[in-house]
Amino acid sequence: MFNSQNFIDNAVKEIREQVDGIAVVGVSGGVDSTTAAVLVNKAIGDRLRCVLVDTGYMRKNEIENNAQMLRKLGLNVIVVDAKARFWEKLKGVVEPEKKRKIIGEQFIRVFEEIARKENAKYFIQGTIAPDWIESGGGLRDRIKSHHNVAGLPEKIEFKIIEPLRDLYKDEVRLVGKALGLPEEVYERQPFPGPGLAVRILGEADPEKVRIVREACAIVEEEIDNAVKKGEMSKPWQYFAVLLPCKAVGVHGDVRAYGHVVVVRAVESMDGMSAAYSKVPHSVLERISVRITNTLKDDVSRVVFDITNKPPGTIEYE
Ligand code: XMP
Repeated sequence: MFNSQNFIDNAVKEIREQVDGIAVVGVSGGVDSTTAAVLVNKAIGDRLRCVLVDTGYMRKNEIENNAQMLRKLGLNVIVVDAKARFWEKLKGVVEPEKKRKIIGEQFIRVFEEIARKENAKYFIQGTIAPDWIESGGGLRDRIKSHHNVAGLPEKIEFKIIEPLRDLYKDEVRLVGKALGLPEEVYERQPFPGPGLAVRILGEADPEKVRIVREACAIVEEEIDNAVKKGEMSKPWQYFAVLLPCKAVGVHGDVRAYGHVVVVRAVESMDGMSAAYSKVPHSVLERISVRITNTLKDDVSRVVFDITNKPPGTIEYE
């Protein structure tokens, strides 16, 4: 049986032996990176710098809220506005694996710049087992290049340390809980490092980001409300995706040619396999009406994804 306290004690000891100077940790505010940051902070304290990158592909208010939450945990947080450079590199790119590789590389370049400024030789990431397994680790086939594994460039200026590398998500949550993270953080639904960029099929331009960001916020709010009211149990992950096509609709008496938004909600243990969530139709209807009202000039249709993993994956790219 996995024992989180033993894991923490061993990891703290190992990190103290490995890291003899300043270290930079990439944090997003998600379960994995926050747990990794708090763990390393326990080991090396004020020698740790936590870098939160605003890629332009984060969810609504996410950067502000997560920076505040991470600072409350006693972490030294540096927020980097990298929106312009991510978009510059992703302009015109439609191929999913290419998008993932570009995002992985840009993350590392931002971290390298901060590491140089801070004189850090070590870079910590919250990589967990499914990230490298799906990225083609060991003898496995590559399903997708997780930004923090197969998205890494070949030449990197610092030594990478991944204290959670052998853990699955449920174990990371236990470690996070044992480290004193608030429940809303260790129970938070996963959000991929490449962010909304992999929830926009095709070119992830700022206009499409605005649409999918709003749609994602509506899906999260409506499902959270339904869970609070006891109408359904909380899915493992739930979000919106923007398809690369348009469909005809009607608004009032006027023809509307708009984007198609997919609502995706899944049940899973570790993200390696998943079943689509049986979200009540009444909740789906509220989501659909709210998305098409709030985004009436942009979205003409909302559909619900009933694909399990396999054969689908949880995200769309
Ligand atoms: P898929 O789409 O492969 O996703 O079924 C499995 C789980 O992993 C998350 N995911 C990622 N997480 N970097 C991450 O940190 C990534 O590049 C990445 N891609 C997918 C996804 O949200 C799901 O929880």
